[in-house]
Order: sequence, then structure tokens, then C-alpha cells
Amino acid sequence: MKKIIHRSHNSKPLKNEDKKSVWWKYGIIYQIYPRSFYDSNGDGVGDIQGIIQKLDYLSELSIDAIWLSPVNTSPMYDFGYDILDYREIDPIFGNLNDFHQLIEGAHKKNIRIIMDMVMNHTSHLHPWFIESRKSANSPKRGWYIWADPGRNKRPPNNWRSAFGGSAWEWDEKSGQYYLHSFLKQQPDVNWRNEELKAAMFDIIKYWLNAGVDGFRLDVVNWFIKDRHLRNNPFSLIPHHFQKLRYDRNRKSVHKIFRELRTVMNSYPERMTVGEVFTMPPGDPSLSASYLGKGDDELHLAFDFSLMYRFWSARQIYKCISRWYSHIPERGWPCNVLSNHDQPRSITRFGGGNESKKRARVAAMLLLTLKGTPFIYYGEEIGMKNTKLKKKDIKDPVGRLYWPLYTGRDPARSPMQWSDETNAGFTKGDIWLPLCNDYKETNVRKESEDTYSLLNFYKRLIKLRKEHKALYMGSWEPVLKGYDGIIAYFRKFQDETIFIVLNFSNKRKKVQLHYRGQWKVLFSTHKFIHEHFIELSFKISPYEATMIKRLGDL
Ligand code: NOJ
Repeated sequence: MKKIIHRSHNSKPLKNEDKKSVWWKYGIIYQIYPRSFYDSNGDGVGDIQGIIQKLDYLSELSIDAIWLSPVNTSPMYDFGYDILDYREIDPIFGNLNDFHQLIEGAHKKNIRIIMDMVMNHTSHLHPWFIESRKSANSPKRGWYIWADPGRNKRPPNNWRSAFGGSAWEWDEKSGQYYLHSFLKQQPDVNWRNEELKAAMFDIIKYWLNAGVDGFRLDVVNWFIKDRHLRNNPFSLIPHHFQKLRYDRNRKSVHKIFRELRTVMNSYPERMTVGEVFTMPPGDPSLSASYLGKGDDELHLAFDFSLMYRFWSARQIYKCISRWYSHIPERGWPCNVLSNHDQPRSITRFGGGNESKKRARVAAMLLLTLKGTPFIYYGEEIGMKNTKLKKKDIKDPVGRLYWPLYTGRDPARSPMQWSDETNAGFTKGDIWLPLCNDYKETNVRKESEDTYSLLNFYKRLIKLRKEHKALYMGSWEPVLKGYDGIIAYFRKFQDETIFIVLNFSNKRKKVQLHYRGQWKVLFSTHKFIHEHFIELSFKISPYEATMIKRLGDL
């Protein structure tokens, strides 16, 4: 076999690593936006009992864990990302009993539960904030970030809210401004305050004791702000025309996650995944920094680069290889194509009539890369962004920026279960309009069709689970996106799997002189079991193929 020197990503398995305790590395995680998954009580909004009723579906898909977007009590200014009681479940989703039932039911099916913990800010209606804003002398004043006005009663500095406008809100009664990096109904807490930190860690322990398997932590890179509240410097990059230097990404934030890891380590088999919120084009080095040395901060961290990429093999290749190059030796990557804040991948990747072909290439990429795959609900059936009228928009960001930006609702539309009324999602008044393709794109129809995208996902997931090379092997790229093709090996001990993805709509030739016995494991175009004696063959437009090495010739 010809030896080719290329960059590989070979982080070594951790010592004493058994598959069960690192399920979060080798498993597949499925994100559910609970409002939109399944409505069990006919109020038009998805709920926890609805998820319980769909556990069989998730179990057949063979995912290992569910990440639930927030279900805690919230006034819903930001649809749950503004929590007012961290220890309770919002009545719209059910109650604590339902949640415990979900944990139990999911665990019986070997599905773990990851909760979304929003701890950079609380709701303005949280009792801590109500107390904090009572007066400048409140015992909880230091739990939030308060500051005196600048000149002429102006805000203390130039920091901007991610959703627009100043990040400071004047509080007439107590005579100071408070910081809100998002809506003014989401005041930022002060993680430098030891009492606040202890209170947050108690909440983490409360849910760990309740049997939760992990946490997705919201905007981890914003937890600590500059102590001196310095102005962000001017920048030509249009995002607020500021270098986002002092309001986020502070180095001292890492101490919090080292402490959190100590807490997590005292509970076996639990994990954290941090949302490292960055602007396009993403920042893999920053994202990877939240893994610390690889085993002393967060277990996983999201890098948004892939979510910010359009349909370009070269761009996608570069972003994957950069991401891997920043992962610390003992760390582990995760990969994600869509979430509840970004356009759905199938829409972002464009392609019109060809979009479902692209979706298969993207699926094979996601499920054969090194690193934990995150699937956003509906991605497995090819759900697209929904087109919405102004009157239908619920997301505060969409309402603010309409028609320039419709916000995040287009990617949050209800799951398409069948071609029945409301796509079988609810018997009530649906909270957000469906995507108009639900008669063709739905779970029932795709379950019955052997060649559907859903069955394609199921097969890929199964293959990933069956092959160590795919879930724990090295990643060794050979074709790096030039000419529209990405190809790589995944290897573990004597198992070698070759994956080739044609991102273009043209027929191409692959000519790689790796001699041996090769057998097609799975493909959009080739016959399963087809044999090759070297990796030289024609590939069809949008072909995605996985080939296993059987041995030498
Ligand atoms: C990131 C979350 O993903 C997003 O939905 C939310 O609006 C902001 N953080 C604020 O919590």
C-alpha cells in the first residue's frame, strides 16, 4: 500500500476508558426543541409527555441521548432561555413527575437525558433578580452586574446586547444600570460572586441527583466579563463594530469550568457540552479552549464553524481540519450541522430540487466524522426552514429585525410526523406554522420507504455503532475538498474504513492507489458488497460511499 503522509487526528483513548463511561464520546446526541416535538395534550405546544410518547421513535433511530432545549419554569421572553425557577418544570411542558418519568422511560431504552442549563443570565422575574434590584444594598446586589451610569446618565460602557441595542438597562428605583447580554428580561448574573457560583453549582447537583446525564451549557464564553467594564475597542468587522474583547471570552472563565468538572467527576457517566457562542465564521481555537487540557474542563464544546458553512467541499474540509487541529490531545470533538438558533442545514446548503441529495452527503459526513454527532430534530427526515409571515413570528429577535432577519422560528417549526392535519404534531392550535412540505416530508412516509432519508440516517447510525473505526478511530484525510470531493480514512487497530463524498453535481473519478480488498459498506449509489482492488472508481453526482478494507490482496 502506498504510504501517503497527511495530517490525521489521532487523539489517544483515555486511560481506563470504558465505553459506558464515555458514552458521550462514542454515542449520538439528538437535540429536541420541546415546544416543537410532539404535543400530547392538544394545547398546540410540544411537551414532556409528548417526548415520552415518541421514545420508541428515538429508540429505533438508535440515538444515545436527547438534549432538551430548556424546560424549566420561564416567562418565555426568550422561549425558555430565561429561567425563573431552575428546579421546576414549566407547566407548558408538564411537571416534575413528567420529567422524572421521561428520565426513567428514556433510561429503560438506553437513552440519556441532557438538560439545557442557562446560567449566564436568569429571567428578570427570578427571585434572585427581584431581590437584587430592590436596592443598591440588597444582599443579592452582587449576584448580578450593576454599574453606575456614565457621563450624562449614559450606559456605563459601549457593550451591546446580542439582540441589539445597549447591553445596559437603567433601573430608576435603585439608581444603577444592570447588564443584559441578551434581552433586558435576561439580566446577566455575576459569576465572580462566590455565593452565586455556589447556588448555580447546587442546581447542577440537584439535577445530577435527579438522574440527569448531562448539561448543555448556554453561552459558556460569556460567563465572565471584564472586572473594570472596559469599553470594547472599535473594529471594522460589522458585528456591532466592536472587537468583542471585554464583554466575553475572558481567560478567567476557565476556572469556573475546572471547578465544575470536579463536581461532574464525582457523578459517574455524566457530561457537559458548552455552547461557545461565536459570530461567523466561527472560532475553533476558542471553542476548543473550553475543553481545557482535554479532561479538566467541559467534556465537549460546540464549534459553530460547520454551522456557518454553505455548500462548499473545500470550505467544509478546511473547517473540519481546523477544528480537529485545535482539540487538545486528551480532548474529544463534537460535530453539528444545525440547531435551534441557525437555519436548518438542508436550507443553508441550498440545492433546490437537489437538496435531499445534498442532505445525504451531509448526513454521511456528520455520521462518519471523528467526534460526537449532534442531530437536530427533523434533520433526519430532511426538514427545511419554514417561511413565516410577520404575524406568525414569535421569536423576539425575528420581531425586532423583520423583514431583514426573520429570527430563529423558521428552524423551530413543529416536527413533521405524518401527512395528517398539523402533520400529526398536535390536535390543537399549532403554536408555529408548519413547513408546507409536510405531506411529502414526514416520519410516517419516510418510515415506509426503504430509500428515504430517514432510513438512510438509521442505517448510518447503525453502521457507526457497529464499527469502532467510525466511533473511536483516527481521521486521516486524503481528498481535501478540491474539485468538490472530500475523502478520508477512519481507522482503529486493524479496521480501516474509507469514506468518499462528492459535493458536486458532476460525475468524477477517484484514483487512489491503495491496493487491497475493499468492499462497499454503504452508499447512495454503489451496490453494497461491490468489491474493489484499489480505491479507483467513478463517482456519481452527490455520491456518498463508505468502503471497508477487508485485507491485503
Ligand atoms: C444561546 C441560545 O442557544 C439562544 O437560543 C438564546 O437566545 C441565547 N443563548 C440566550 O440564552
